[in-house]
Amino acid sequence: MADTRLCALADLPEGGVRVFEIAGLRLAAARSGDAVFVVEDRCSHDDGELGEGRLRGTEVECPRHGARFDMASGRATRMPAVAPIETFAARLDGDDVLVDLPQDLAP
Ligand code: FES
Repeated sequence: MADTRLCALADLPEGGVRVFEIAGLRLAAARSGDAVFVVEDRCSHDDGELGEGRLRGTEVECPRHGARFDMASGRATRMPAVAPIETFAARLDGDDVLVDLPQDLAP
């Protein structure tokens, strides 16, 4: 695992979801207060783009059919999705958002 700078904290609007691409991997990132979350930008139901979805508390809602996922654990919390999504550990380092990517994906 390797910490990789994803963006500045100011690039993540409170309550919004943004998409980033690192090493060919599309990530959806969100912020809720001082907590930051990074997940794969792909719904486990039918590949909807979660980065186009809405943040509801610490859950992201898929824009296609309304499934929701806990962004910390990746657990599906609302149908029609049942399988979890992939999550990546994220943290703040000053004003930077760092994401912990598997070594083979880190740029
Ligand atoms: S593709 Fe996400 S809920 Fe269907």
